[in-house]
Amino acid sequence: MGGWTLGIESTAHTLSFGLVDSDGNPHPACSDTVRPDKGGIHPREAADHHKEVAHSLFTSLLETYQLSPTDIGAVSFSQGPGLGPCLRVGAAIARGISSRLSVPLIGVNHCVAHIEIGRQQCGCNDPVLLYVSGGNTQVIAHLDGKYRVLGETLDIGIGNMLDKFARVQGIPFPGGPVIEKLAAEWLALQDNPSLNGLELPFAVRGMDLAFSGVMTAAQRLIENGAELGAVCWSLQEHAFAACVEVAERALSHTGKKELLLGGGVACNSRLRTMCEQMAEERESTSHAPPRMYCIDNGTMIALLGRIELDNGRQTPYEESGVEQYLRTDQTQVTWAV
Ligand code: ATP
Ligand code: FE2
Repeated sequence: MGGWTLGIESTAHTLSFGLVDSDGNPHPACSDTVRPDKGGIHPREAADHHKEVAHSLFTSLLETYQLSPTDIGAVSFSQGPGLGPCLRVGAAIARGISSRLSVPLIGVNHCVAHIEIGRQQCGCNDPVLLYVSGGNTQVIAHLDGKYRVLGETLDIGIGNMLDKFARVQGIPFPGGPVIEKLAAEWLALQDNPSLNGLELPFAVRGMDLAFSGVMTAAQRLIENGAELGAVCWSLQEHAFAACVEVAERALSHTGKKELLLGGGVACNSRLRTMCEQMAEERESTSHAPPRMYCIDNGTMIALLGRIELDNGRQTPYEESGVEQYLRTDQTQVTWAV
C-alpha cells in the first residue's frame, strides 16, 4: 500500500493526529490536551475541545510534514475503549477524511495500539506488557492470536488514582507528573528515607490490583499532617511495587524474558527504574518507549492501522461505530509472534 497512514486518537483528554510514512515508520504526532480549570475530565467538555481544535491541529500536522491531504493513503482511528462523546468526534473526523479522499478506514483498539507502538519502538519480540494509564492497568501477554489480560485493576486505573489524589491536593490534571516531581524533590532532601509512618495498603489481589484503598489511605496521611512530598513518594513506592509484583509473576508464569511498559504512567522514571531492577534480577530485560509514545498519541493509532491494513483488515463504514467498552483481549491479533 502506498501513501501515509493518518491516525486519529480521541479516547479521552487528548485529540491527536499522527502519521506513519509509506515505509511504515512512525512520526511524532500533533496533539492537544484539554485541561479543565477545576474537577476531572468531563466527557462532553472534552469532546467540545476536540471539535474546536481539530481543524487547526490537522492543518499543523500537514504543515509540519509538508504533506497535502492527497498524500494520505489510509485513515485509522481509536474505535474504543474510551469516553463515548470523545470517541465519536474522532470517528466522525476519520470517516469524513476517509470518504473525502476515498481511502481505507480502519478502526483500531486503543489499548492494543499502546502495545504495538512499544513493540515497534523497543524492538521487543514477545514481551509481557505492563499497560499503565489513566483508565487502564493491565498485565498482558500474547497467546493464541490475542493479547490476554493476565491481571488488571479491579477498581480504578493507576493514573486515575494518581490524578484523583492530586486533585484533592489542588493539583490540576494530569496529576501523575506533578506527583513524580514532588516525590523526587522530597526524596532528594532525605538522608535516610523511610516508609515508617507512611505505610499504605498493598494493592495486589492475586494477579489483580486495586487502587482506591491506597488513594484513601494516602489522603488520610495528609489529613493527619504528613508532608505532601513524603506521601507522593510513598504512594508511588506502594502503587508501583504492586504493579511490578504482578508483572514479575506474569514473567514467571509465562517464561517470557522481556517486559514492556506502555500507557501514560509509563512516563514515570521511578516506575521505569523499578521495572528494570526487577527484570535484571530475573535475567530479563525491561523496555519503555519514548515518553511521547507512552501518553495517548495519534502515531500509535496510525501504526496499528497500518499493521491491520497490511494484514487485510479495513472497517466498512457501517461497522465504524465506536465501542466504549472494547477490551484488550477482544481484538484478533494476527500479526504478532
Ligand atoms: P487509556 O485510555 O489508555 O487509559 P488515558 O486516557 O489514561 O489512556 P494516557 O495518556 O495513556 O491516557 O495516560 C494518562 C495518565 O498518565 C494520566 O493519569 C497521567 O497522570 C499519567 N501520567 C503521565 N505522566 C506521568 C508520570 N510522569 N508519572 C505518573 N503518571 C503519569
Ligand atoms: Fe491511553
